[in-house]
Amino acid sequence: MSDSPPLCRLDDIPDGGAIAAQAPDGELILLRQGERVFAYHNECPHQGRNLDYAPGLFLVRDGRLLCAHHGATFTVDGGDCIAGPCRGAGLVAAPVEVVDDEVRLAPVSD
Ligand code: FES
Repeated sequence: MSDSPPLCRLDDIPDGGAIAAQAPDGELILLRQGERVFAYHNECPHQGRNLDYAPGLFLVRDGRLLCAHHGATFTVDGGDCIAGPCRGAGLVAAPVEVVDDEVRLAPVSD
């Protein structure tokens, strides 16, 4: 279990939606599907811009996350690019875990 401070509570993330959270090495996108949370660095592989259309507001629908700038489309559960100008590059994942309804960065094993 991680001893890092919580990024947020699970209920802070709308089910099927996303929020932004600040991590030590930059801003993360936290996406929720039921009890599962996926986290990626908020940086589009197309032009390196944040994916949100306004601070902390993301386009998420049917298990897909869209970059607000040129429509690059990523899977929520893997960060894989499946459409748009991302040229096969995916989002960079950040390991997170949900413990006692809190979302935290997970320890990284070597
Ligand atoms: S910066 Fe994300 S699609 Fe262009």
